[in-house]
Amino acid sequence: MGRQPATAESPGLTTNQAPFIEQARRDGQLYIQQPYELYSAENHEAWRRLYARMAPRWDRYANEHFLAGIHSLCLDPKQVPKLADVNRFLQPLTGFQAKAVSGYIPAFLFFDCLRNRTFPTTITIRPSGRLDYLPEPDIFHDVAGHVPMHTDRAFAETLVRFGECAHTAAELVAGIRGEREQVRRLTSIIRAMARFFWFTIEFGLMRATDGLRVYGSGLLSSFGEIEHAIESPEVQRYPIQLEWAINQAFEIDHYQPLLFIVDSFDHLFSLVDELERWMCAGKLDDVAPGEPAVNERDLRSFL
Ligand SMILES: [Fe+2]
Repeated sequence: MGRQPATAESPGLTTNQAPFIEQARRDGQLYIQQPYELYSAENHEAWRRLYARMAPRWDRYANEHFLAGIHSLCLDPKQVPKLADVNRFLQPLTGFQAKAVSGYIPAFLFFDCLRNRTFPTTITIRPSGRLDYLPEPDIFHDVAGHVPMHTDRAFAETLVRFGECAHTAAELVAGIRGEREQVRRLTSIIRAMARFFWFTIEFGLMRATDGLRVYGSGLLSSFGEIEHAIESPEVQRYPIQLEWAINQAFEIDHYQPLLFIVDSFDHLFSLVDELERWMCAGKLDDVAPGEPAVNERDLRSFL
């Protein structure tokens, strides 16, 4: 009674406090294993609490494809999932797999993973005292927020299409003469893709028979924002327009004031097709400046 878990002996896999992850990064390892035995009791407790409070909100606000996905993945509400178990259920459905990573993946590599039906997945989990908001992804965001969507065939095809767009971008940019012009246009293209991804895959809403439902993973993994996104009169919700989404800056440190609605995943897929056509026609070469910033690693990953 009263004994605390031996945290000095098992520092766990807590976001920003995991020696295992720090070591992997120092070693330059992007792709890693999930050392499941390292999760501490506190880590499992954080998962249990996140899942328990989220479940009723999913029923109320999440898109039907997500709810079906959560069901087919058989996630354990009581403990941090093993990616190998998740993949056993996921892979037969769409070919997608969750793959453990040590942290940030440069943009091209990230999209290239999607093209190969692999989802780079964070394995750390937020501290149990900070369940509400964390700027960086964790395993709850990635596995409870993203991966259930990957069980849906139309959604999975959309992600693959996104990955193909990144390849198209790399080919296009390779054909541009002059490094300055190459970097200028690539920066704009990456910014356009990141914005489109943000307003759909991370924060998208979809029409449903009973109004609007959430399919974006940033919303699906946020207890506060999932409700805010659907209920708050402060949020502006508009049918998605490609030219708007790619020119719209966003900030990641507060609830989103503007969200876009798609009709279906077939609709979303057709938009990704259109994004690629626009890219080839040069219509992504001068999108509005502003967030997100495109860093050196993202740029280099395409070149
Ligand atoms: Fe995400």
